[in-house]
Amino acid sequence: LAEKFNVKIVQLQRRMIELDMTESQRRPNNILNSDEASNLAIEFNLNPIVDEEKGFDIYPEIDADVSGLPLRPPVVTIMGHVDHGKTTLLDSLRHSSVAAGEAGGITQHIGAFSVPLSSLLPEGSPPTDATITFLDTPGHAAFTGMRARGASMTDLVVLVVAADDGVMPQTKEVIQLVQAAGDSVGMVVAINKCDKPMIDIDRVKSNLGAEGVILEEDGGDVPAVRVSGLARIGLDDLVETLSTLAEIRDLRARVDGKAEGFVIESNVDKGLGIIATVLVARGTLKTGAAIVAGNTWARVRTMTDANGNEIFEATPGTPVTITGWRDVPTAGDQLLEAVGGEEMAKKCIANRLRDLERKALADDLEAVNAKRVEAR
Ligand code: GTP
Ligand code: MG
Repeated sequence: LAEKFNVKIVQLQRRMIELDMTESQRRPNNILNSDEASNLAIEFNLNPIVDEEKGFDIYPEIDADVSGLPLRPPVVTIMGHVDHGKTTLLDSLRHSSVAAGEAGGITQHIGAFSVPLSSLLPEGSPPTDATITFLDTPGHAAFTGMRARGASMTDLVVLVVAADDGVMPQTKEVIQLVQAAGDSVGMVVAINKCDKPMIDIDRVKSNLGAEGVILEEDGGDVPAVRVSGLARIGLDDLVETLSTLAEIRDLRARVDGKAEGFVIESNVDKGLGIIATVLVARGTLKTGAAIVAGNTWARVRTMTDANGNEIFEATPGTPVTITGWRDVPTAGDQLLEAVGGEEMAKKCIANRLRDLERKALADDLEAVNAKRVEAR
């Protein structure tokens, strides 16, 4: 187990003591059951998976071969320079009007929405119950961290480039993020605001080419669509491109079992207390579940979907807002469901906090020693 966790045996044994495991349980020849092994995995911030046939493992071993698992919705993040029309485009796709209500017309957080594909496809398309999960990100220069998180949680990025403004600093930033993510993130360029007169699409394309983004139509490998979020032009084309790319990627995830995901954003609501929007990546999150994220935990009191409806179960690809947190989790934190319920969640967080303290102490000590050496 220590080998699998990539820790020293003594570290494992120390955690066992801290988990109040008895001496006989701690003996090297004792075989732990999957619950015990899972609790230990969580202690080391690893993700336990228990499969009826394959037994105990830690993520991603069991899910490594996903071919037999159900399809999951693609996570599509809308990114680009400030005011290039990301929120408006998403509003048009989901028949909402978020952009109009934003302070100064500037997005300052990551918005997450699950949109039924049937509402996105042209009339007469074959019926489907598939959905696309969209994340809206801010384009303002100040929100680099949020963009980086957006890019790390996603399958596909829609790079929105306003045709009247072209490639700008945050356009380049997004291209670099996608390039750094390699094959794990696909990109579609949406040349936006194509309703405007006197736009120069060739200039946009050559700007993109200078950043290493060659469109398919020019012999490269990046699909591009011409759209206008405001005038609702080219949306079918965009949705079709996204669906095709998602299909090629064959995105699948385990639906059964404990939930895993990540925190998209968090804040304190006057009425509800601490709330956090999370995106479930694997498994099913249910109300009442004990979850840990970063240095805090929650017993899920309520779950609300992106349309404000209360739900009781959230499957992969579903963004949900959760109440019941002890402390404010940090956006980007990995979320895990605690195998042993509330008790284990509490312990896990106590351990993480203690580890942080230990590390801080060790760092202090190192600094003091370094100073001493210097003084000598
Ligand atoms: P940030 O989130 O702050 O980065 O901005 P954004 O990219 O979400 O842009 P937003 O959707 O808020 O739109 C910015 C401005 O561009 C608004 O005034 C929109 O009405 C306008 N706009 C957005 N899309 C289009 C479009 O397709 N055509 C035209 N003509 N204007 C658009
Ligand atoms: Mg916006």
